[in-house]
Amino acid sequence: LPLEGLQSGGAGPLYLKLRQSLEEAILSGKLNHGDALPPERDLADYANVSRVTVRKAVDDLVRDGLLVRRHGSGTFVVRPVSRVEQSLSRLTSFTEDMARRGLNTRAEWLERGLFHPSPDEMMTLGLAADALVARLGRLRIADDMPLAIERACVSAEFVPDPLAVTSSLYAALEKKHARPVRAVQRISACNIKDPDASMLGVPVGAAGLSIERVSYLASGRVVEFTRSLYRGDTYDFVAELTIPE
Ligand code: GLP
Repeated sequence: LPLEGLQSGGAGPLYLKLRQSLEEAILSGKLNHGDALPPERDLADYANVSRVTVRKAVDDLVRDGLLVRRHGSGTFVVRPVSRVEQSLSRLTSFTEDMARRGLNTRAEWLERGLFHPSPDEMMTLGLAADALVARLGRLRIADDMPLAIERACVSAEFVPDPLAVTSSLYAALEKKHARPVRAVQRISACNIKDPDASMLGVPVGAAGLSIERVSYLASGRVVEFTRSLYRGDTYDFVAELTIPE
């Protein structure tokens, strides 16, 4: 890390200079996403500044989302992601959206199994109480960046074996000839709380987009009821507007 010479070089508070050096190291890729920051004491010795100065610089970078503190394990580098533009009018899957941008997706499973539907799920999916639904809860990761937490609920008729869904839900539905052709989506703003914030690697209270999607087959039957939480710092939703006829 290029932290020597902070004391001598230029005017301005030391912590701001330290902050700037760390920020440059993150943005230039000298420090990688997920790297642990050296302990406060080592940084202080190395940069020849006090621990208070180190803490102030680190606090600043945590606030700006370039570092994240994980309880008990240290402080880690967060590579800022460039924002992605997502059309509001196209019914695509997460895997497809990311592939189009050249990103590889993977998932950490939070929930995957067959359950009896909750009252909400019964009403939305139009199912009876003794029906079964597949619940698929995932932390969705693109190129090692956690982007969204998604909880999908689908009638077991379309996903009889949830464990067989290893990557894309829409790909699995397509195999069952049940890929949705239409969807209604509601997007609302929220502040991300824990444990979601730590899963997404953002500070508690960071801006998020909460998205609900209900999607349909051509027959009008509901296929999917999905609630997602997207990081607000990565998504721009773009819609084309036309004059009403
Ligand atoms: C988007 C939608 C979800 C949908 C998912 C399918 O993320 N918000 O409602 O379930 O795509 O993605 P995939 O096929 O990659 O699992």
